[in-house]
Amino acid sequence: MPRMEITLDSPLDMHLHLRDGDMLRLVAPLSADFAGAVIMPNLVPPVTGAAALQAYSERIDTAMGGIPFTRLMTLFFKSYSAAELESARALPEFFGIKLYPAGITTNSEGGLADMAAAAPTLHLMEDMGIPLLVHGESHGFVMDREAEFLPIYRRLAQRFPKLRICMEHITTTAALHLLEEHENLCATVTLQHLLITLDDVVGGSMQPHLFCKPIAKREEDRAALLRAALSGHPRLMFGSDSAPHPQHKKECCGCAAGVFTAPLALPRLAALFAEHGAADKLQDFVSGNACRLYHLHPVPRRITLRDTPMRIPAAYRSYGQRVVPMHAGETLSWSIVPTAAG
Ligand code: DOR
Ligand code: ZN
Repeated sequence: MPRMEITLDSPLDMHLHLRDGDMLRLVAPLSADFAGAVIMPNLVPPVTGAAALQAYSERIDTAMGGIPFTRLMTLFFKSYSAAELESARALPEFFGIKLYPAGITTNSEGGLADMAAAAPTLHLMEDMGIPLLVHGESHGFVMDREAEFLPIYRRLAQRFPKLRICMEHITTTAALHLLEEHENLCATVTLQHLLITLDDVVGGSMQPHLFCKPIAKREEDRAALLRAALSGHPRLMFGSDSAPHPQHKKECCGCAAGVFTAPLALPRLAALFAEHGAADKLQDFVSGNACRLYHLHPVPRRITLRDTPMRIPAAYRSYGQRVVPMHAGETLSWSIVPTAAG
């Protein structure tokens, strides 16, 4: 039977956690099937200034071990002066600012407690053309947190019409509807939210490696997200939210939130899009839409995916770290065709 192939130019992951130290050294090369990524700033302490952002970017470059990778670096939202924003904007790798409501997820204790206090910085960002990325969840009932945040997105979109606002890792039909209301809104969606529902996380035996924030929702939400991704929605982008945690912090009481998908995201997406007859839409979802929305020019990288199986290891380990990926121990139906170089 003839093999199916999909070739992608410079795929981008528009929402990636690379961490720091030994975990960074382990996961950076595992995340480099992509030509670049938007790197989240929720380190301990978070990345809140130009110098810290540049130093983190250099540590990532070192951890990549010579692999060319476009680092789209973010600051952690706080009140910034115009001068602070100018010095960040002067850095070629600066991309935008990620806003976390205080305490909403991993390492977000220093996030925003009062949305009203954000206005002066948001005005500056709008004037300076700095994108805003938002973890849009309330502190309400876990299944309703994203829905409860949507009015805040709406107000932001209306009050700051020139601000590019990205609704990160959307999980609901309601968020897709909001995307239609305002041209200055865009959104990322993860791999897991295209594939699983809350049933997969806690409907049978509890699956800590599928636990993330926002939590996976209902089947109708998953199906709507998948339809939107497969349809080539121009303001919907792939952002894996690949969020590695050490195995012992996932397989314990008080399990950390985050699904590690970076090393398998592209083969799994290729299988998903091909299965639904939408292979031709994958390029825009994993690169084209982001490049157009944000005027990006990632490093050139061409990768070919093919419907030959790929075995996912039980864990990835190095530098004393051990991380369990999504689909651990399973065989995916698509894989990356190795290049001549390796
Ligand atoms: O599940 C998550 N993990 N959601 C987030 O928003 C943060 C992330 C992390 O940093 O581990
Ligand atoms: Zn994230």
